[in-house]
Amino acid sequence: MTDRYCVFGHPVAHSKSPAIHAAFAEQTGEAIAYTAIEAPLDDFAGAWRRFVAEGGRGANVTVPFKEEAFRLCDTLSQRARRAGAVNTLILGGNGQTYGDTTDGVGLVRDLKRHGVSLAGARVLVLGAGGAVRGVLEPLLAEAPGSLLVANRTAEKAERLAADFDDLGEIAGGGFDAVAGPFDLVINGTSASLAGDLPPLPDGLFAKVATAYDMMYGADPTVFLRWAAERGARPVDGLGMLVEQAAESFFQWRGKRPDTAPVLARLREAL
Ligand code: ATR
Repeated sequence: MTDRYCVFGHPVAHSKSPAIHAAFAEQTGEAIAYTAIEAPLDDFAGAWRRFVAEGGRGANVTVPFKEEAFRLCDTLSQRARRAGAVNTLILGGNGQTYGDTTDGVGLVRDLKRHGVSLAGARVLVLGAGGAVRGVLEPLLAEAPGSLLVANRTAEKAERLAADFDDLGEIAGGGFDAVAGPFDLVINGTSASLAGDLPPLPDGLFAKVATAYDMMYGADPTVFLRWAAERGARPVDGLGMLVEQAAESFFQWRGKRPDTAPVLARLREAL
């Protein structure tokens, strides 16, 4: 029987994951079926159980189920435990559910693909929600020179920094605490969705700097436009999406797909 995988979300019809994983499967010769499933808002655990009963071997998890997925796991990766969220479920041979989060690895791989060197870099992360919590451990593992988390609600950023400060040089505060220059500024807020921009000072970027938005779309986000006008190189989060998917695929199938052609195809279709 073909091994089944899926992405759970609500809504999920717009998800690019089925197309990405179909491309990975074709490329690696893995016989898998990957679909999108809209889980009921009040019963994520039931949706996962039913999927497993029907031959499901693993799943990606997206908004709004990442924390619920975290809670149902029997075992967790270290980085998922830190993130408090799971985007990858794996059914073990013993019927147990293992949870991992591949978002942060995806971000770091995409940054490296763009030639960003993180070691020693001055890094600013905007936002202190789930999306940011999910990427901090892999970012800190690259040993940036400094990492400042800035958020509209300053206390949330302070708390987040305190939760991770055993892993490296990290501080948290409000936007008023932000003073450049930074080599890398990552937007992990959902402000772009509202066409909003966090209040940021001029002089934010170092001479050679990258501005990364974890979001993507056909047009550059408000943040990326603002950053490009100030001389930073703008990069959107489409590559992160493909890289996190590739890491999930590797966890399930033990094979590493070539992400470049898949990303190029997605970019064309945006
Ligand atoms: P996610 O899972 O995407 O991280 P979240 O946990 O709701 O979603 O977090 C959203 C993040 O975007 C938060 O950091 C939020 O700031 P607050 O903690 O102060 O709410 C930030 N955010 C959302 N809209 C924003 C806006 N218009 N300006 C600045 N920050 C915004």
